[in-house]
Amino acid sequence: MATPILDIRGLSKTFPGGITAVNELSLTIEGGDIYGFIGKNGAGKTTTLRAAAGILRFDQGDILVGGISIKEDPVACKRKIAYIPDNPDLYDYLTGAQYLAYLADVFEVSAADRQARIAEYGEALDMADRLNDLIGSYSHGMKQKLAMMGGFLHAPRLFLMDEPFVGLDPEAVVRVRRIIRDFCQGGSAVFFSTHILEVAEKLCNKVAMIKEGKLIASGETAQVRGDQTLEDFFLEVMEHA
Ligand SMILES: Nc1ncnc2c1ncn2[C@@H]1O[C@H](COP(=O)(O)OP(=O)(O)OP(=O)(O)O)[C@@H](O)[C@H]1O
Ligand SMILES: [Mg+2]
Repeated sequence: MATPILDIRGLSKTFPGGITAVNELSLTIEGGDIYGFIGKNGAGKTTTLRAAAGILRFDQGDILVGGISIKEDPVACKRKIAYIPDNPDLYDYLTGAQYLAYLADVFEVSAADRQARIAEYGEALDMADRLNDLIGSYSHGMKQKLAMMGGFLHAPRLFLMDEPFVGLDPEAVVRVRRIIRDFCQGGSAVFFSTHILEVAEKLCNKVAMIKEGKLIASGETAQVRGDQTLEDFFLEVMEHA
């Protein structure tokens, strides 16, 4: 088997104060996967995503990105990853274009690549004509779309997205679904949390369900849900698992 793009091994995280947010969670994501992460409020999704993005220390286990431990070489891992939080807090006093240029500099994206990708994703996300405006003047959804553009700039192998569809208008949801599909067809992977099970069912070839920090189901979407809808399966396992 090829090296997975993301290999979470026995991840545990207990916050100061004693809440164990993630409890011995193991999950493997391969190139091409559109992997949905499902669970109730407080289940541990954001904690897992932040640990995988290399921005949250964890107590136990390891996270490998393309075979490299995020504990041993976080910079090499971060070069392969993009991450957008559930509520992007960007720099209000920069324009969208300045923000993207800053990110492209950090990730050492060539001039040709940054130009091509800003044009491609600006068009795909309907942001092209707002990039010269200050981020402080953007709506919530526009900030989210800019953060997403920033993630695609360095052509990551793995894009971690925390509730990417929240706050997007219906047209933007369709656009983002299309972008995710195209991106993963190119061999990269997306791992995203969502509460919208219809979207997960349609979009994701694989899903994982987490309850109180423990993984309770994972794998091919069709196998996980069996002959039920994903929503019915979710409601059932939340009650009984
Ligand atoms: N910085 C923190 N300090 C203390 N506890 C935290 C912290 N961040 C998260 N937690 C706790 O960890 C648990 C998991 O939270 P997490 O944000 O990972 O859940 P989630 O699955 O993303 O939920 P939601 O669907 O509401 O976004 C919760 O009990 C939460 O209160
Ligand atoms: Mg969350």
